[in-house]
Amino acid sequence: MTRILGIETSCDETAAAVVARDGAGRGTILSNVVLSQLKDHAPYGGVVPEIAARAHVNHLDRLVAQAMAEAGLTYSELDGVAATAGPGLLGGVIVGLTMAKAIALAHGKPLMAVNHLEGHALTARLLDDVDFPYLLLLISGGHTQFQIVEGVGRYHRLGTTIDDALGEAFDKVAKLLGLGYPGGPQVEVQARKGDPRRFAFPRPLKGRKDCNFSFSGLKTAVREAVNDLGLLTDQDVADVCASFEAAVAETMADRLTMAVHLFRAAHPAVENPALIVAGGVAANQKLKAVFEQAAERFGLRLIVPPPKLCTDNAAMIAWAGAERLALGLTDDLSVAARARWPLDETQAPVYGSGKLGAKA
Ligand code: KG4
Ligand code: ZN
Repeated sequence: MTRILGIETSCDETAAAVVARDGAGRGTILSNVVLSQLKDHAPYGGVVPEIAARAHVNHLDRLVAQAMAEAGLTYSELDGVAATAGPGLLGGVIVGLTMAKAIALAHGKPLMAVNHLEGHALTARLLDDVDFPYLLLLISGGHTQFQIVEGVGRYHRLGTTIDDALGEAFDKVAKLLGLGYPGGPQVEVQARKGDPRRFAFPRPLKGRKDCNFSFSGLKTAVREAVNDLGLLTDQDVADVCASFEAAVAETMADRLTMAVHLFRAAHPAVENPALIVAGGVAANQKLKAVFEQAAERFGLRLIVPPPKLCTDNAAMIAWAGAERLALGLTDDLSVAARARWPLDETQAPVYGSGKLGAKA
């Protein structure tokens, strides 16, 4: 049995958690505390990096103390300390990683510098008996990608976004319509009251033989429709949301078909591969229906972690740390924070993902 403290500060959640992993590889969450900075950023319609970093500095030590108290452990009883070392907003990542280094140094514990995306990718194994390899779809405010999870630290990227992340697209549509931030949940609520056929928005990259995503053209189409409408009625807002969501759902069904095809080609012997969907957008019910239909059609074992473990949290970082420690994958105290850190470093960034390389 190993017990790991995890720290997450890569975006706008300050989080600390303690997770145990037994000899058979099963996990238990001993504590999991998250402080959302949502209200600090809401007036700006998005995350402000400087505000985020300052808030992490202000709250992290208290949250770590709380996570340790709730787990009923002292630092000397820990087997290791894990922190997100990237990708993310560098100021925030440095705050969490430095705290983890200090605890590891002071108490003589191993340090695991965790890729935030690996945290999302391995969460399913904390909750369920899931063997490698499996298919991961990560859809959040910062990431939109398909990965084959071959093992701890072993990933094969099947597709990613060439422009906006899916959650970002939801947030931008919400902003265009004057709905608050974060926009995804509000777009979903509006969409339920609307007509998904009123606006014929594009289905980006549909039919393409890869599983990349693109959402900026769809966002532009929504902006043009909104401009044409002029003054928006409540029904207009609902219809735009419903039509946008329908375009996203159809795109997702198409991309997912392609991803399953690529997964099966890579791993023909795996009979009922698991499909893990993680990230905040996984909470969307219309998309969930798409995943359920695909699971049924392709014989996949669908696992969508509960929202608390799907969105950013430190239990997933502690767990990834525990999985890494079990394989002897520990890090030196000199390890640096990284703003960009793709899970699959063998793949070139996709076209259009910016001069600094792919966001993820
Ligand atoms: O994973 P997450 O909590 O944070 C990171 O981005 O790391 O994801 C947040 C994103 C936001 O863009 C939010 O608008 C979106 O997930 N989101 C949703 C829904 N709930 C959250 N998008 C669509 N439908 C939802 N129900
Ligand atoms: Zn995340």
